[in-house]
Amino acid sequence: MCGIVGCIGKKQACPIVLDGLRALEYRGYDSAGVAVIDSNNSAQLFKQVGGVENVARLINSSKKPVKSTVAIGHTRWATHGQPSIENAHPQTNQSKTIFVVHNGIIENYSEIREKLIGQGYKFISETDTEVIPQLIDYHLKKAKSFEQAFIKTLGELRGAYAIVALTTEEPDKLFAARLSSPLVIGVADEELIVASDPAAILAHTKQVVYIKDYEMVVVDSKSYKIHNYLKDTTVKRGTEELDFDSEEFSKAGYPTYMLKEIFEAPATIKSATLGRIRLDPPLVKLGGLERVSSQLKFIDRLVIVGCGTSFYAGLVGEYLIEEIAKIPVEVQLASEFKYRDEPFSRSTALLAISQSGETADTIAALKKVEDYGILRLGVVNNVGSTIARMTDAGVYCHAGPERAVASTKAFISQVVVLAEIALYLSNGTSKLYKPLLSELELLPGKAAELLKQTETIKRIALKYKDDRDFLFIGRHYLYPAALEGALKLKEVAYTHAEGYAAGEMKHGPLAMIDPSFPTLALATDSPQLEKTYSNIQEIKARNGRVVAIATEGNKHIESVADDVIYMPQTAEQFQPILAATVMQLFAYYIAEARGVNIDQPRNLAKSVTVE
Ligand code: G6P
Repeated sequence: MCGIVGCIGKKQACPIVLDGLRALEYRGYDSAGVAVIDSNNSAQLFKQVGGVENVARLINSSKKPVKSTVAIGHTRWATHGQPSIENAHPQTNQSKTIFVVHNGIIENYSEIREKLIGQGYKFISETDTEVIPQLIDYHLKKAKSFEQAFIKTLGELRGAYAIVALTTEEPDKLFAARLSSPLVIGVADEELIVASDPAAILAHTKQVVYIKDYEMVVVDSKSYKIHNYLKDTTVKRGTEELDFDSEEFSKAGYPTYMLKEIFEAPATIKSATLGRIRLDPPLVKLGGLERVSSQLKFIDRLVIVGCGTSFYAGLVGEYLIEEIAKIPVEVQLASEFKYRDEPFSRSTALLAISQSGETADTIAALKKVEDYGILRLGVVNNVGSTIARMTDAGVYCHAGPERAVASTKAFISQVVVLAEIALYLSNGTSKLYKPLLSELELLPGKAAELLKQTETIKRIALKYKDDRDFLFIGRHYLYPAALEGALKLKEVAYTHAEGYAAGEMKHGPLAMIDPSFPTLALATDSPQLEKTYSNIQEIKARNGRVVAIATEGNKHIESVADDVIYMPQTAEQFQPILAATVMQLFAYYIAEARGVNIDQPRNLAKSVTVE
């Protein structure tokens, strides 16, 4: 949710931290702050409500020039306390000698706060984070070193965190730690950068070290020292090379990341299939599942968990895996899964889907089954993320970094990967094996064809820009697609939208239909099309307006719907992929017409690392 960056080295640290925060702003963007300590051991703290640019302006206008080779910064998505200067990070102790940026949640913060208030400490923010610098301050009175006070503090915190601390006690070091929240160190020639996401590091180095749970790290201008504070052991870990380019983090000439990422659909499909599918002879090879292939043969039930868009991709996956691999599948919201007390047999596998690989609820779902001895699989985009590391095996989406808060290309890659998993699990026995593999090969070209219709989609979307409510309907594979389409419109255009199985219309939603409540009907060629026509007729009979998404060549639909957006013919199993692109563009242009911040919708964050 929030983004953290710290830098220590030979260069000026503040510009590096600010650039890192800009790269992380997609994670949280309601307030931001930076702390530096200069060569005279004098600290400066800059905090502002709003985006990183507000803090950059504050720093530029500082009467005392900001010169320092050590700095930490934070961009926030509020959990405890509204966005305000007091609640922004870095949080400090009273004497402003300890500065802390934190990502995650401290569950026992009120307990610690009460205890410290009892000891005469005063708190000025409503955040959970403020207890960290204050508790370090408390322990520092007895501890031999800052490091010892830091470790003592970590031992008392419950919850999830990535923390970076800076102190005037030892201004030539950064102190960091993680528990269930990502933390990575970039090792460049002239500086070391600690961040919650490699995106903040990439412009300076590709050499990184991932910090694991219960590890704290002391970083100076040349080296890092990792210590496991649970086992009280020193950890030796070398760097590894990041496998993406800084180019992938730019807007590449598009006005927004969301539009750029929508337009990456053809490349996304291609890279999700690259080296995995072959036509002659037909074969699906998923390296990530090879080492559990013998266990997979005994799986008789699959539970898929995910949140948001990943959950909806999971619903498409349910249909794909059941139809192709004939394995019963159940998809659950990760946020609900963890509360259920359902029986599990050893032949059940859990599959977690996540773009970021850091979503707290999905991690909690995986943790819940830790002791059941069942196979835990992942479909993850972010390489090396927590979920990728905690699952037994999995398949990467390879969609590249996704920066817009609303997920677009990740959904497409997830559905492609789930189709590949379904084909893989079918072991070549499905009659769909060969036809779907051939169609997967053609799909990038079809997605590219579809994108040529962007202007038409925009023109139609703008006709509906002032509508406050929208219904999205579809049947079979297009039902989860409808749910995802409605989510896009809610997220980026702030329009109330509901996704419904078209067959449910008569069981309630039809009552809402009138001329001010339009419907987007997913009506592409499939065995269910006739039934969807009937739903459209029922809506028209109640003076509802209908935008239909149909297969190219379907002229009949023009006589029943008000507006028609055509997409290339494809197998019904892959229609959610092409339909998603149409609905993403539809939501995008309505959002653009409304003048909202498309990449960073209000109240949301890209990576939801708190439950
Ligand atoms: C947030 C994002 C969504 C995403 C969901 C799940 O809500 O804004 O776009 O679908 O989290 O995230 P994940 O990274 O686990 O796919």
